[in-house]
Amino acid sequence: MTGWKPVFARTRQARRLPYSDSLGSLSAQMPKTFFITTAIYYTNSSPHVGHAYEMVLADVIARYHRLKGEKVFFLTGVDQHGQKVQQSAAKAGIAPADFVKDITQKFVDLGKKLDVRYDEWAETISERHKKVVRGILQRLFDEGQIYKDKQSGYYSVRQEQFLTDKERGSDGQFGLEWGEIEFREEENYYFKLSQHKDWLSHYLNSRADAVIPDFRQTELRNAVEKISGDLCISRPKSRLDWGIELPFDKDFVTYVWFDALTNYISFAGYDPNATAVAIGLRPVGLESLGTAHRAVATAGFEAQPPEFREKWPALQIIGKDILVPAHGIYWLIMLHAIGFPEDQMPQLLVHGWWNLGGAKMSKSIGNIIDPFVLADKYGSDALRYYLMSEIATGSDADFSEGLLVADYNHALANTLGNLVNRTLNMIHRFRQGVINSISLATLAESEVRSHVQTWSEDELEAGRTFYKNKFADFRPSNALSAPLARALACNALVEISAPWNLAKDKQQQKLLDAVLYHLAESLRIIAIWISPVLPRAAHGIFDQLNWKMELSGKEERFSLADAEWGKLPDGHVVGKPVPLFPRIEP
Ligand code: MSP
Repeated sequence: MTGWKPVFARTRQARRLPYSDSLGSLSAQMPKTFFITTAIYYTNSSPHVGHAYEMVLADVIARYHRLKGEKVFFLTGVDQHGQKVQQSAAKAGIAPADFVKDITQKFVDLGKKLDVRYDEWAETISERHKKVVRGILQRLFDEGQIYKDKQSGYYSVRQEQFLTDKERGSDGQFGLEWGEIEFREEENYYFKLSQHKDWLSHYLNSRADAVIPDFRQTELRNAVEKISGDLCISRPKSRLDWGIELPFDKDFVTYVWFDALTNYISFAGYDPNATAVAIGLRPVGLESLGTAHRAVATAGFEAQPPEFREKWPALQIIGKDILVPAHGIYWLIMLHAIGFPEDQMPQLLVHGWWNLGGAKMSKSIGNIIDPFVLADKYGSDALRYYLMSEIATGSDADFSEGLLVADYNHALANTLGNLVNRTLNMIHRFRQGVINSISLATLAESEVRSHVQTWSEDELEAGRTFYKNKFADFRPSNALSAPLARALACNALVEISAPWNLAKDKQQQKLLDAVLYHLAESLRIIAIWISPVLPRAAHGIFDQLNWKMELSGKEERFSLADAEWGKLPDGHVVGKPVPLFPRIEP
C-alpha cells in the first residue's frame, strides 16, 4: 500500500494553481471557478478500469476543491468522431450515430455507477461543439495558419497518421505498434504547427509546472525540440465522413485533434466569434502581422464571454499516452495560435496506466477489467478506494482484484468500519447515545488523557497540513493516510482506555466521556477527510453520527473548514450503528 502510515512528512508549499491566476476586472466581481477536465473517451469500445481511474481521479480532485468551498466546474465526456468509431460501427453493421449513442451511454452509466459528479458532459457530435470547432478552423484558415497540400507516403491505419523514416525501427521496418501500413497519396489541409515551436519551448522553459509530474515536462520539452513539419488536420470525405466538415471545404472533415481537443473550451462557453470580431480578422498570413498580431490576438481573448473567462484555464487530467504530441504540443500550440496568452495556458496533470499482467489495459490487447463488474461486486466506494490508494499519481500500477479485497478488508472494514461500529455501540451502551464534551484540563494526568490531547491538538494540525499538502500535490493516495492514521489511533485509544472498564469505575466517568467524545469527534473529521474519495461512506458516517442531517445526501454537507476540533456539541445524540463496510471473504 502507498503511504499509509501516521507519518506527516513536511511537503513543499502548494504550487500556484491555474485557478488562482489573475483575471483582471473579472476577479473583482466573482471568485474564480476551479475548472478540471479529463480526456474525452473514444466511443469505439466500452469503458474499462483505466477510464474509470481517470474519471475518479478527476472527481476526487473536484470534490476536494468543493470541500475547500470553491466553485468547481468539472468537465468530462466522450470523443465520438473518427476513423476508429467509423470502423467499429461498420464492423457492427450499425450507423456511426447509433453506434456512438450506445457506447456513450456506457460512459454515462460508468460515471453514475462510480458516483462521479461532473458539471458538464462533452459529446463531440453536439452542434454546440461543432460550431466552435468550425469557428476556430475558419479563423486559422483566414489568418493563413491553415493551408492545403499534397502528401504521399506510408500511412498507419491504427495510429491514423503518415509515417516518416523516424518511425522506422533499427531493422528499417515500421514496428507492430503501427498496425497495418499502406501507401497513400492525398491532398489535405495542414496547420502551421512548426512556426510555433519557439514559442512552445519558451513557454515550457518559463513555467516549471506546466506539466505535472516534472519528468513529464522534461519529456515534453525534449519532444518539442524534435518538432518538424506541420500538422495534417483533415481527411477527404471520400475516406472518412464521420467527422466535422471543414467550414472552408465541404469535401473534407477535420481530423482528429482539432475536433477532440476543442471540447475543453467548447463546453465551457468559449466563443470563437467573440475573438474573431475583437481582432478584426482578415485573411492574411500570420508572419506578416508579426507582433502586432500577438497584441490583438491577446486582446481578443479578453473579448471572451465572462462565463468562459471565469473558469479558464483548466487543470487537465490525461494519461501519459496522450501528452506527446496531442496535449503537450498540438493543444498548447492551438490555444496559442488562437490568441490565448501564456497565463491562460492549462496545466496538464499526467497520470500513469493501469496495467494487467504488465501490459497496458486496453481493448485492442484484450486485457481489460470491467469496472461495472467490480462496482457491483464490491460497491463503488471500494473500487474508488482501491483506484485512489494503490497508484501514485503519475506512476503505473498493476491491477489486482486480490489487492482490492485485501485493501478493503484492512483499511475500510477492519479499521474504519470497525471504529464506527464500536464507537456508536459504546456511546449507546454506556451513555444512551449521548456524548458529553469534557474539558481535558479537568482530568488527571494519564496515558489516555495524553493520547486524547495529542490527537485532538498536535496530531490534528499535523494531519490537516499533511492532507492539504498531499492534495495540493494531486496525491490522493497519500492524503488518505491522514484519515486512516486517525482511525488507527482511535482504535488504539479504545484498546488503551478499555471503555468497558472505565464504565465500571465511578472515578473514571469523566475520562470515559472524554474518550467517547474523542472517538465521535474524530469520526466526524475522518468523514470530512475521506469524503472526496469515499463519498458514500462519508455520508454513512455523518448519518450515523446524526450530524448535518438536513444536508443528507448533498455534497455541501462536507466542508474542510468544519474539520476543526470540537464542533459536536455537548449533549449531542448519535444515531444507531449500521455496518458500513462488511468484511469481504476473499
Ligand atoms: N479520445 C482520446 C483523447 C482525446 S482528449 C481530447 C483518447 N481516448 S481513450 O479512450 O483512448 O483514452 C482516454 C483516457 O483514458 C486517456 O487519458 C488515457 O490515457 C486513459 N486511459 C486509457 N487506458 C488507460 C489505462 N489502461 N490506464 C489508465 N488510463 C488509461 O485517447
